[in-house]
Formats: sequence, structure tokens, C-alpha cells
Amino acid sequence: MFEIELKPKEFALFRTYIYEKVGISLSEQKSTLIKGRLNKRLNQLGLGSFGEYYNYLISDTSGDELTFFVSAISTNVTSFFRESAQWKWLESYLPEMIASKKEKKIRIWSAGCSSGEEPYTILMFLQHHLSDFESWDIKILATDISSKVLSHAIAGQYDAKQVEQLPREMVARSFERLHGSDQVKYKVRPVLKEKVLFRLYNLITDPFFFKNKFDMIFCRNVMIYFDDANRQELVGRFTQLLPKGSPLLLGSSESLTAHKDILKLVGSSIYKKI
Ligand SMILES: C[S@@+](CC[C@H](N)C(=O)[O-])C[C@H]1O[C@@H](n2cnc3c(N)ncnc32)[C@H](O)[C@@H]1O
Repeated sequence: MFEIELKPKEFALFRTYIYEKVGISLSEQKSTLIKGRLNKRLNQLGLGSFGEYYNYLISDTSGDELTFFVSAISTNVTSFFRESAQWKWLESYLPEMIASKKEKKIRIWSAGCSSGEEPYTILMFLQHHLSDFESWDIKILATDISSKVLSHAIAGQYDAKQVEQLPREMVARSFERLHGSDQVKYKVRPVLKEKVLFRLYNLITDPFFFKNKFDMIFCRNVMIYFDDANRQELVGRFTQLLPKGSPLLLGSSESLTAHKDILKLVGSSIYKKI
């Protein structure tokens, strides 16, 4: 493999394109990262320059190359019950939410769900805390921009080392144990899976098509790559989809600088609509 240079002009092209398509704001320092992470890809494709790769990227109407590019420059890292302080907070919030319900219906959006651990955690959490879980009409909308992580989420199959960290009783109730040729895998049970609607969805460019509001919205560790303008715009749109008193959950390293008149901090990176 030979090393291909990324010229400043080429970097500027990627920067504009990625900002417009995905909302990710690439600083000058990301030039080295792109060069390092995409050199192998250019070699695989038999391309001799980043200029050629740029043309390849923008002419791929399937969106697969954009997915590849975004995965190369960002992270899909996730895990079951990530941000433990938030799940503790939700334990005390859940009875309040249930008490306010007129219908036995729960709607939650996991925006930027990656490989599915977040939406499945929401369901495991509800299954654990609602004694009459089966009698509720529960739907989790789980969206991501990457078709690759969504395929993993839809398959709902996880490595033993990820799943076996959960309480045994929860594992038994929520997963089927699969014995592969060389390693144990766990598959999410249909009773949970059927409650998730997975969709390919770009938070920056796709229209907000939703007819109904959500009881809560998770958008954790997604907006870290967005600039302030996109972050504010997106949070503004989230608030329109939340009834008063409902929470928006961000990643623990994220905080809001705008919308303070409409969103109140109530827990670890948890904001309630006022
Ligand atoms: C670090 S993961 C976070 C997963 C999960 N929310 C969590 O906190 O564990 C960030 C996810 O956001 C997705 N993402 C990034 N930009 C996006 C966009 N513009 N629209 C939708 N999803 C996006 C990525 O594909 C990735 O799967």
C-alpha cells in the first residue's frame, strides 16, 4: 500500500460536503485523521488521489460510501445501559410518567441508535420496571444515518462479553443464547425486537415527518460532531416533539447552551421540557 496525500483543497471539498450531508463539522486537524483512516479505502478502490475519491463519494447515490466515510471519521461506540446515572434517574421518573398516562401507550425515540444497544436497553429497562409490561403498547423508534450499524441492530445479535455483564435474570428474559461453532452469541428475543422500528434517518437533512409526540427522546453522543448551529436547530426540533414535562437525554459529556427557556436541566445531561 502506498500513502496518498490529502491536499488542503481536497480536504476543503470533503469538509463542505460532509457538513452539508451529515452536519458533521470537520476542523483543520481532522485532515490527518481523514488521510490516515481513508488511505486503505483509496487503495482498495484503486484510486490514486483524494480528488478521485471525492468524485466517487459524491456520485454514489446508494449512500453506502457516505456511511463508510462517516464511520471512518466518527465513532459508533455504544453499550447496554450506557450512562448509568441516567438509568438511575429514569427509575425515579418512570412512576411519574406512568401515573400521568391516560392510555397504556409509550413512544420513545432513540436518535442515533448505532448498533441497537440503546433501544434494546430502553425495552429491558421497561420490562424490568413495569410489572404489567406485556399489557402496554410500546414502540421505540430507533434511527441512525449508518446502514451498517442498523443492520447489526436489526439482527439484534451480540457478543457474550457485552451481554454477560447484565444481571443474569435480565439476560435470560431478554436474550436467546446461541451456540455458534466457536463462540457464544446472544440474540434479542422477539418480544422485545418487535417493539422497535429501525429506520435509516439523517438528523440533519431528513425532514421531521412525525405525526405524534414522544414520551422521551434519547440523542446521546450524536451531536458531539455537530456545530452549534446544527445542534441548536436539532434540539429546537426535538422540543416540538416532546410534551411538557418530558425528558430529552443527551450524552453525559454534552450540555445545552441554548433553549434554556424551554428545557430545564433535571439530571445528568437530562433536560425536561418546561
Ligand atoms: C457514538 S454513537 C452513539 C450511540 C448511542 N446513542 C449511545 O449513546 O450509546 C453515535 C451515532 O450517531 C450516528 N450519527 C452521526 N451523525 C448522524 C446524523 N447526522 N444523523 C443520524 N445519525 C447520526 C452515528 O452513525 C453513530 O451510530
